[in-house]
This record gives sequence, C-alpha cells and structure tokens, in this order.
Amino acid sequence: MDIPRPRRRWIGRLPHLSPLAVLPGHQRRGAGSALIAAIVDAVDLAGAPFLLLEGSPGFYSRFGFQDARIHGVRFPLPPGAPAGAGQLRPLTSYRRLAGRVRYPPAFLAATIE
Ligand SMILES: CC(C)(COP(=O)(O)OP(=O)(O)OC[C@H]1O[C@@H](n2cnc3c(N)ncnc32)[C@H](O)[C@@H]1OP(=O)(O)O)[C@@H](O)C(=O)NCCC(=O)NCCS
Repeated sequence: MDIPRPRRRWIGRLPHLSPLAVLPGHQRRGAGSALIAAIVDAVDLAGAPFLLLEGSPGFYSRFGFQDARIHGVRFPLPPGAPAGAGQLRPLTSYRRLAGRVRYPPAFLAATIE
C-alpha cells in the first residue's frame, strides 16, 4: 500500500495482509493463526514499520492488530464495513506514518465474464 504524507510525498509501499482465508473444511484447526503469526514475523524481520489489513477486529486483535485510526492511518473501506476494520500491527521498526491507504490498481482490478 502506498501511504502519502500529508504533503502528498510518497513514502513507498507497505505490507498488507488481507484478504486471508482458510478453506471451510480446514477452519478452526489453527491454520489461520499460524499463517498470521508467520506473516507478522516475516514482515517484522524484513524491517517494515507495520502491517496493514482490512478485517474483523474481533479476530485480529489477538495478534496485536489495532484500529489504524489511532495511528493516523485511514482506509478506503467498502460500504457496510465496520469503522474499525482498517487495522495496523505495529512492528519492531514502528514509526508513525499518517495518511490514507491507497491500493495499487492491480489490487482493485476485477472482471466479470
Ligand atoms: C478467519 C479465518 C482465516 C481463520 O482461520 P482458521 O484457520 O479458522 O483460524 P484458527 O483455527 O487459527 O482460529 C480460529 C479462531 O478464530 C475465531 N474466528 C474466526 N473467524 C472470526 C471472526 N470473523 N471474528 C472473530 N473470531 C473469529 C474462531 O472463533 C476461533 O476462535 P477460538 O479459537 O477462540 O475458538 C477463517 O475462519 C476464514 O477463512 N474465514 C472466512 C474468510 C474471512 O473471514 N477472512 C478474514 C477477512 S480477511
């Protein structure tokens, strides 16, 4: 994700976790939690300041994700999404980078055939 500074100077891309899904027949066996823990470790080791996602606060808070708004980060959430769905996991190299998340065009591309 690209987050512009208030002066609209680009500061580069940041890791984004969602969407994440486990096949229904394999849910509630720890696969989702293991994936999230591994991804958090990998982006932390890579030196990212934080990890972003859109998802249920009830699920992701247990992995250290927080409402991104308290870090000054705003998401372009779809209609009907809970206000706290935009989340941020601070990492070891955390620094405050306030702004609005903008998805790359490929992330938004979809076709119906
Ligand atoms: C969310 C998801 C990835 C979790 O994967 P999983 O392998 O089932 O997760 P785990 O087995 O590691 O953990 C299951 C725990 O998550 C909880 N959980 C699952 N979905 C939840 C949600 N939307 N809100 C709150 N808790 C949730 C379960 O109740 C369970 O809690 P418990 O262990 O206290 O009983 C999986 O349920 C899924 O693919 N759901 C459909 C897609 C989706 O909603 N993705 C998230 C948005 S990106």
